[in-house]
Amino acid sequence: MNEENTNLPNVVMPVCPEVKMLKGQKALITGANSGIGKGVAIELAKAGADVVVNYRGGEQAAIELVEQIKTNCGVNAFAYQADVSNENDVKAMFEKMINEFGTIDILVNNAGLQKDAPIDEMTLEQWNTVINVNLTGQFLCAREAIKEFKRRGVREEISVAAGKIIHISSVHEVIPWAGHANYAASKGGVMLLMKSIAQEVAPFRIRVNNISPGAIRTPINTDAWRTPAAYNDLMKLIPYKRIGEVEDIGRAAAWLASDYADYINGTSIYIDGGMTLYPGFATGG
Ligand code: BGC
Repeated sequence: MNEENTNLPNVVMPVCPEVKMLKGQKALITGANSGIGKGVAIELAKAGADVVVNYRGGEQAAIELVEQIKTNCGVNAFAYQADVSNENDVKAMFEKMINEFGTIDILVNNAGLQKDAPIDEMTLEQWNTVINVNLTGQFLCAREAIKEFKRRGVREEISVAAGKIIHISSVHEVIPWAGHANYAASKGGVMLLMKSIAQEVAPFRIRVNNISPGAIRTPINTDAWRTPAAYNDLMKLIPYKRIGEVEDIGRAAAWLASDYADYINGTSIYIDGGMTLYPGFATGG
């Protein structure tokens, strides 16, 4: 976190400790050892969910997060190492979760990465890695979650839905991004993956949505906010004139996973300070 760039106020709404929107629910968050995934895991736990903190690297951070969650939120949690782009890893992770927690109510498909390169220099390895983790990984985890949601159905005392999937996508599911064709293609793919799955499983009372963040202060985009010059440049793309924080995403995810959002299905929620508003047109066009 960079303190010198926090000159603009970041209004933080307190979460009422009495409200446990996700009490008794079991959540899996992929890529939860850092960044947005970590923020989501904390907010879901604060809302009363037991959480599985998936990670691929960064075991120490995942273990520390689990301890923090167990101590402060009064819920159960464990860390699990798995590569979401590996089918066997994903199957084993769901087996472990169902053995430990009995079932799954919420999947947050968050694990993702960037391997940026100009298109004429992009290697097949860079392309494949991004598509495999960001898109195929989301498919593999969604598939396993839906199997369990369908098998178990609705338990009304827990939630009026049989299950909830939140794909963490990006504003780049709709904003083209030069130099990041693999990443933008993966997120565009996630958008229609989400909508197609949502259409298919809605009759089973399973809700599937995207959260599509803009620039959030995490390790994936350090270059975009670390120096004052970079931060100022970034602000040209954000009408609301502040970078996003992981709590902005985490709180929305907790609400979207809860029954308060029960009629929201098959849509993308852009959490981006207005990045998708084509800010260049504020003075041009
Ligand atoms: C990317 C970030 C970027 C943001 C806005 C995200 O999906 O991972 O690197 O800052 O989109 O462009």
